[in-house]
Amino acid sequence: MRTQVAIVGAGPAGLLLGALLAKAGIDNVILEQRSGAYVLGRIRAGVLEQICVDLLDEAGAGARLHREGLVDDGFVLVFGGQAHRIDLAGLTGKRVVVYGQTEVTRDLMDLRAASGLTTVYEAEDVALHELDGSRPWVSYRKDGVLVRLDCDFVAGCDGFHGVSRASIPKDRIETFEKVYPFGWLGLLADVPPVSHEIVYANHERGFALASLRSPTRSRYYVQCPLDDKVEQWSDDAFWAEFRARLPASLAERLVTGPSIEKSIAPLRSFVAEPMRYGRLFLAGDAAHIVPPTGAKGLNLAAGDVGLLAQAMAEFYRGSEAGIDDYSRRALARVWKAERFSWWFTTMMHKFPENGPFGARMQLAELEYLMSSRAMQTAVAENYVGLPL
Ligand code: FAD
Ligand code: PHB
Repeated sequence: MRTQVAIVGAGPAGLLLGALLAKAGIDNVILEQRSGAYVLGRIRAGVLEQICVDLLDEAGAGARLHREGLVDDGFVLVFGGQAHRIDLAGLTGKRVVVYGQTEVTRDLMDLRAASGLTTVYEAEDVALHELDGSRPWVSYRKDGVLVRLDCDFVAGCDGFHGVSRASIPKDRIETFEKVYPFGWLGLLADVPPVSHEIVYANHERGFALASLRSPTRSRYYVQCPLDDKVEQWSDDAFWAEFRARLPASLAERLVTGPSIEKSIAPLRSFVAEPMRYGRLFLAGDAAHIVPPTGAKGLNLAAGDVGLLAQAMAEFYRGSEAGIDDYSRRALARVWKAERFSWWFTTMMHKFPENGPFGARMQLAELEYLMSSRAMQTAVAENYVGLPL
């Protein structure tokens, strides 16, 4: 088989890249190790920046998002038992859209199915070859048969544990990492959300987050010890802990119900530099991870592939300037989002090792934030997304 761009991974980064390249008339094949149903079953991000919405529109996958997505003008910060509001629209003129990653993925999968482009699900043993020349190729096994896919470029959109970053020689890539000493236990339930605006709570028992997927579906999280197992957490135990971390005004509105999904995610900050090796380009979680506190992961993935699609289109029009500049441009934005996500995580979570002094510093910073329009503007412009 031959294509122009071989895309490894059919998460949001791979699917959106495939759609943007198709719009530019560039042929591509996606290789995904899991089944389509498995990819759709992963409950993850929920907040889209305008830049991400614009890219989905450009790809032709934005129609349902505009009908069903919930536009939020602000978000809520809880500390010292009180709720405070960050007025995103008033401070920046911009908003965010609450629309699940599962729905983004479904829309992109439907678009791809209609386009007739090839997606190989359950592709096993994907391996990348001759990345440092101008004729790279990818091999994989499908239904026991070994297949060779020749291409001009490989796009590594295969997430943090994928094969792409691991295929780069160790002396050609530098990595930066911070692992946090806790995780997030998330629960999805068909109950009306406590708030249509997302709530981030700093509480002495630990961080809590109230998010949503629709007016009848809630997505809630609590900070939990890293070694907790999801089986240890009954629905009742989750609801009791979550309620205890909400201020009274929200706790009295909380409606509980059986969980549809429950999972624990570790928190990590990670960046790999550069995001290119020869004809391999990394995008999304394959190149960087942020802790979810700033809701930046999916948005960064979308930004990367927006830049990459542009750069590849330029290449086929005769200029290599775009592909040569891709890593620098993407990383400039990535590091700023890393900083914001790290800062927001540090300010909102319980760090027992920092003791009572650390907790007071968090409260002082939160009180300063709510007293300073300048600082609120800085937070809001990061939250709605920095320009590409
Ligand atoms: P992935 O979604 O990980 O997709 C990679 C794909 O590659 C997968 O389908 C995988 O199966 C496939 N793959 C892996 N290895 C191989 C291989 N060897 N061969 C072939 N295919 C392979 N982000 C936000 O922006 N906002 C949020 O509100 C938010 N909340 C989050 C909440 C949680 C609990 C978590 C865990 C994450 C959250 N994120 C959020 C982050 C967001 O989900 C990720 O950043 C996003 O999924 C990245 O997309 P991706 O396509 O780069 O990677
Ligand atoms: C979510 O809805 O899953 C969500 C929302 C905001 C975040 C992280 C996750 O910061």
